[in-house]
Formats: sequence, structure tokens, C-alpha cells
Amino acid sequence: MKSTRAVLSTLRLIFLVLLVTIPLRAQLERNSLAQTPPMGWNSWNKFACNISEDLIKSVADAIATNGMKDAGYQYVVIDDCWQVDRDENGFIVADPKTFPSGIKSLADYVHSKGLKFGLYSDAGSKTCAGRPGSQGHEYQDALQYARWGVDYLKYDWCNTETRNAEEAYSTMSKALLATGRPIVFSMCEWGTAKPWQWAKGIGNLWRTTGDISDKWSSHEKWPNGACCQLGMLEILDLQVGLDAFAGPGHWNDPDMLEVGNGGMTIPEYRAHFSFWALLAAPLLAGNDVRSMTPDIREILTNSEVIAVNQDKLGREGHRVEKSGDLEVWSKPLSDGSRAVILFNRGAADSKVSVTWEQIGYPNHIPAKVRDVWAHKDVGTFDGSYSASVPSHSVVMVRIAP
Ligand code: GLA
Repeated sequence: MKSTRAVLSTLRLIFLVLLVTIPLRAQLERNSLAQTPPMGWNSWNKFACNISEDLIKSVADAIATNGMKDAGYQYVVIDDCWQVDRDENGFIVADPKTFPSGIKSLADYVHSKGLKFGLYSDAGSKTCAGRPGSQGHEYQDALQYARWGVDYLKYDWCNTETRNAEEAYSTMSKALLATGRPIVFSMCEWGTAKPWQWAKGIGNLWRTTGDISDKWSSHEKWPNGACCQLGMLEILDLQVGLDAFAGPGHWNDPDMLEVGNGGMTIPEYRAHFSFWALLAAPLLAGNDVRSMTPDIREILTNSEVIAVNQDKLGREGHRVEKSGDLEVWSKPLSDGSRAVILFNRGAADSKVSVTWEQIGYPNHIPAKVRDVWAHKDVGTFDGSYSASVPSHSVVMVRIAP
């Protein structure tokens, strides 16, 4: 009798321990994802709703063979418009015309290339393109994604009416954790409810602004008044002050890359990519990676710029100096050095200088400077470094005492 009771109480204890540790383990899993900013490709910026399984397969083929996979690009993410309906049990259904083999088989294909697979949904009743959203179906959708082999979910904010953002994103976050499959959770709430203040532990990354447009500078309101399309500069300016909120597993997301989509010049795209690297932003290419010019490929796969982005210290860079059109930005790196951007927004080439004190070193010490775009050591300098910076572009260096 006594021993039966002892067995029962041991079993109860084991049960309680499991009850506490299983969700904890899942939480640790979430925390172990995206320790450096996620890198990959997303269909939206170039293809919008013109997507299909053939497109996604050919993009995966390209990434696996054109140097992008070797450079660190990993997630192939399908954005809006892959879904059309729900079945009689409420499960989400992929468009049979554009994805006739189904999502599982596409995910298997992407995995077979040594890459990871991502999907898109929305916290409202409908996605931004009017496809079925996940509201009220969060656990069911998460379960389906896990069955299909999804590794990354981008979760949008259209048609959410009066929904509370923290509640909505927490619900999907918990639903993803409950599947037991590690799925990076990318929150796309446009910064409306300041997710950097509350989303650490809910999402692995959160959008900080409206949508990027393939323009150096621009600001257009969406027709529904909710938010906006912004140029690269407008997005960059909205990142000022947010660096303290980012770190391993939880990143500010200034939106996907436009590099290679044709709306900016090569020097401007070099500036765009440099800043996204320095901001520890997710690097999600948004162009047609199957047909890139050598210039564009060289930007997207520059190993020294990517190393700044992927640095394991995980600190986001910030602006240390602004004087009219000329600026200096700095990002601390794990070896004690700094990545520094000398930035020229102006219409003419200009000299831009950084002093060691601006980046946290005493001015009297010598420091080595390396140009990460030119892949060249520039020399050793005392107290400051100056360079001529082309109009609408950057000089990006690493400075190490
Ligand atoms: C919103 C998002 C974009 C994209 C579209 C898809 O605008 O912010 O990144 O996902 O929806 O409809």
C-alpha cells in the first residue's frame, strides 16, 4: 500500500517536472534561433503576388549555386499570396494553380538544397493581399506549418481591426512554440505599437517601419491610411534610437533588401547594404537572384560586410555624428573593433571624418583601418580617419586599435 503511494507520488513528481520543463525547453529553443540576424530571400519586393512553386524552386537552385548560400543566405521565404482558402476542417489551403505539388513537397525541395523554408501569414482575418489570415486559426496554422517543415514565419498586421498587437503576436508565438519545431518568428507590425519595447521573447525579429520601396528617398501613405511606403533614407532615419533593443535572438527589422531591383544606383545599393549590415538587420534579399549583374551579386555576397552583420556580439550599430548631409555610424564588434560607415547623403562627393573618441577609443592611440568594400588595409592612423565619400554612398571600414 505504502509502496503504491510512493510510486504514485514519484509519478506525480515526474509529471510535474515534465509539465514545467517541456514549455521551458521550447522557450529555450526559441531563444536559440536567430542568434545572428537571419539571412535569406523573400519573394515580395520583386514578385509580389506573381509567385509559384517553379519560381521558388528556381530561386532555391540559384541561391544554392550562385555563391549566396556560401555567403550565409539560408531562408527561402514565400510572402503573401500562396494561400487561397481553408478546407472543411479549417486548415489553410495553398493555391492549387500556383503550388500544385503542395507546400510540403516544396519545403522538402528547398531543404534538399541545404536551405531553410519560410512562409507568410497575417494576424488578421485576411492578409494584406486579401488571402485568408490566421486570426482564430493560430494553433491550427502553426501545426500545419510544422507538418510541412516550415522553418520561418513572417506574420503581417493587415485587417486586424481592434486587435491588440502584443496579444496577437504572443498567441502565434505560443502556437509556434507548441509545435515543438524550431520556427523563426518574424513579426511584421510596421512598428505601429513599438514592438521593440515588448516583443523580445515573443518574436525573433520585428519590423520597425512601413514597407521599403526601391528608392533612395520617398514617403507615400498607403491608400487605407494605415502606414506607408518609405525610401531607404526614411527607413534609415527611423532606426535612430532603436539599437538598444536588438540583440541575439531578437532583432529590429528595417524591412527586406531592395538591392538589385533597379530603383537605385550601384553606389546607393552599396550604402543600403552597408547600413543593413551595420544595423544588424535581417539580410533578406528581395531581387531576382536568378539573374543578377556581377555588381549586384558582389554587393549581396561581400563577405566582409556580411561578417559585420553576422558578428556574434550581436550589437546594432548607431549614428555617432550628423553634420548636415554627412554622417558617421559605428557598430561594436566581438573582437573589440568597430565597423564604421562614413556616409554622404549629399549631391557632391565629400570628405567625411571619424574621430576615435566618437567610436569609444582614446584619441591618442593608433588604430588600423581596413576598407571592407575594397578588401584592403588602408593603414594605421592616430586619433581619426578621413575619406572622400562619393555622393549618395558610403565608405565602410573596420577600425581596430
Ligand atoms: C505588407 C508587408 C509587406 C508584404 C505585404 C504582402 O505590406 O509589410 O512586407 O508582406 O504586406 O501583402
